[in-house]
Amino acid sequence: MGKTKNFQTVKGMKDILPDEQKYWKYIYGLVDNLAREYGFSRIDLPLVEDTSLYSRSVGTSSEIVEKEMYSFTDKGDSNISMRPEFTAGIVRSYIEHGMLDKPQPLKLYTTGPCFRYDRPQSGRYRQFHQINFEIIGEADPITDAQIIQIAFKINQLVGLDVVMQVNSIGCKDCRPDYEKVLKDYLKKHRSKLSEISKKRFIKNPLRILDSKEKEDQEVIDNAPQQVDHLCDGCKNHFIQVLEYLDEIEVPYALNPRIVRGLDYYSRTTFEITPASDEEQGRQSALGGGGRYDDLVELIGGRPDTPAVGFASGIERLILQIKSKDLKVPSDPEVDVFLAQLGIEARKKALVLFEELKDAGFNIREGFSKKGLKNQLELADKLNAKLSLILGQKEILDGTIMVRDMEGGIQEVIDYKKIIPELEKRLKKVETIVVNDKIKEEK
Ligand code: HAM
Repeated sequence: MGKTKNFQTVKGMKDILPDEQKYWKYIYGLVDNLAREYGFSRIDLPLVEDTSLYSRSVGTSSEIVEKEMYSFTDKGDSNISMRPEFTAGIVRSYIEHGMLDKPQPLKLYTTGPCFRYDRPQSGRYRQFHQINFEIIGEADPITDAQIIQIAFKINQLVGLDVVMQVNSIGCKDCRPDYEKVLKDYLKKHRSKLSEISKKRFIKNPLRILDSKEKEDQEVIDNAPQQVDHLCDGCKNHFIQVLEYLDEIEVPYALNPRIVRGLDYYSRTTFEITPASDEEQGRQSALGGGGRYDDLVELIGGRPDTPAVGFASGIERLILQIKSKDLKVPSDPEVDVFLAQLGIEARKKALVLFEELKDAGFNIREGFSKKGLKNQLELADKLNAKLSLILGQKEILDGTIMVRDMEGGIQEVIDYKKIIPELEKRLKKVETIVVNDKIKEEK
């Protein structure tokens, strides 16, 4: 017999263990709240799409489609890919379900896992989670500003100091001219470029601008910039986006390197970076997004359906929260631990548990445990404030024992008066938030 294999998570994928859940719950709650406040409706999509949806939208020359997709042929011979991002799927759904007949713009958001076969390292996983917001059906630069504002807000609300790195990569009219200027420039300096950038020069010269390779930096620093080659429409659009951002006091930095790794963008592009390491670029980006005015048409929808959106990586947000030691709400404290001794007490404890839970106590139990010592140790570990102990004698007397877990004082009380006695001991104060003022009610 061979040795039994010790199974582990697949490389680059992580379990989200119970101790971690408070971060996730906090972020999901915060995102749902923001979505409601800004009028976004939730959409949920399948984990897989036709592979060609991504090659058409994210683009065949992008690293994602070229190297990072989890693609397979299913039993019906269809080419399927695990979603590497949400935007393509959301636009597919928008077209498929005729959402352009709804009042525009349509504001949609989602959260969930995405998959990229990337080289795993801190903050980079093969299964990771995104928060994703899209506004489809509106070209006005105020929507770009609102998207950037929401992306900023998520970070601000968790207490992170971030800067929005913004750029405009022009449109299909003005970008080809710029690409020509850039190509001429890069051609002159080709010998100084890294091997990766030399390859990119043929397929997608714009991407050289966000190269992290050391030898490329000087060439990139001196490269002509798209913002100097925008057509009037794109220039005006960009100026207005920046004016709106000034108005709503979203901190931004103009960054000509933000060209993004996905092919569908036009005009505004942006990335979110921690304020302290603005220079670290895409790898440390907490999120990114931009306008994609041609994507709806490109994948078969109505021409002239402009859109803008962003996605943030939840794992990266949590890494930041932890490294800055920011507070997140933790689970409510345990009010009462219910201990029992003997078969009759166990039966009665099952019923009492229901009553106390329904009365609003945060209660835990030791149903499966036999000895009292065992159960009180567990109550201690759970940090319960009080324990209720129900034994044969108490059942006969119509009583129950209450133990104050901090002082260890025990008292026998009338079984019928459990709820008021617990309330008295816990001095249950319910706080109700009304108009941002905390009122205390007994
Ligand atoms: P993206 O820049 O490819 O954009 O990804 C957005 C964010 O997802 C990144 O900034 C990062 O926080 C997180 N992320 C990406 N890859 C990984 C990974 N391997 N491990 C951990 N986190 C990762 C998009 O996906 C676009 N769809 C955004 C968008 C929405 N544009 C318009 N609408």
